[in-house]
Amino acid sequence: MDGIEIARQRLRSSRSPVALTGAGVSAESGVPTFRGVEGLWKTLKPEDLATPEAFDRDPALVWEWYGWRRSIIASIRPNAAHYALVELEKRNPAFALITQNVDGLHSLAGSRNVIELHGSIWRTKCLGCGGSSEDRNAPIRIIPRCALCGGVLMPDVVWFGEALPEGLLDRAFEASEGADVMIAAGTSGVVQPTASLPSIAKKAGAYLIEVNPEPTPLSGIMDARLAGKAGELLPGLL
Ligand code: OAD
Repeated sequence: MDGIEIARQRLRSSRSPVALTGAGVSAESGVPTFRGVEGLWKTLKPEDLATPEAFDRDPALVWEWYGWRRSIIASIRPNAAHYALVELEKRNPAFALITQNVDGLHSLAGSRNVIELHGSIWRTKCLGCGGSSEDRNAPIRIIPRCALCGGVLMPDVVWFGEALPEGLLDRAFEASEGADVMIAAGTSGVVQPTASLPSIAKKAGAYLIEVNPEPTPLSGIMDARLAGKAGELLPGLL
């Protein structure tokens, strides 16, 4: 497997680089990851907090959890990994950034072409009229209601058992098929269909670089595996 110098050269000569990011990219900012030793899913159950059924059963509990996560995210800043990806976009306007993160830190850092596949923690969706709007309150003490129709608002994020927004998924597939280099950073690579994007890129001829302290199910198809933290390795990769 190639090392960082070859990966750096491939990235430098890339015409259509793509990055796929996950919770690990925000870890150094202080956002908890889902899996791993201190991951949220070690002590909490996704079926209680991150499914449409959980919201139907107990919307107040789900909002309490999202409000808690909003409070954490509201007080932190993007880290060197986010800024490195901003730099990559500046160097190559064709760059596409596909993220599973709902924290908005890529955009806050300055990335423009961000495909937020799992939605945004800062948006709500109305169960009544379907309207989506920005809402930056944190924490959440009462279930928020739609200003237009009075309907119950839910976080505008993708939950387990839900399909990803079609338009965004199409864009992610398109970017992956057109990538000549793909960086998979800070993702455990276990949640589908997002986890299949690196193999789609690989089939289309892309050079794959993984940045993650731990090996993942994606490691086997990588051309370069950079073991370490995204905030330390991504700036060096550029
Ligand atoms: P995970 O929490 O599953 O995985 C985080 C990954 O980041 C792990 O592979 C860690 O080894 C790695 N990691 C930790 N610290 C890192 C660092 N400083 N630099 C680089 N890597 C680091 O996060 P995702 O793959 O994003 O979905 O999870 C995918 C989806 O599963 C999430 O969007 C969420 C979750 O359940 C829903 O809630 C629907």
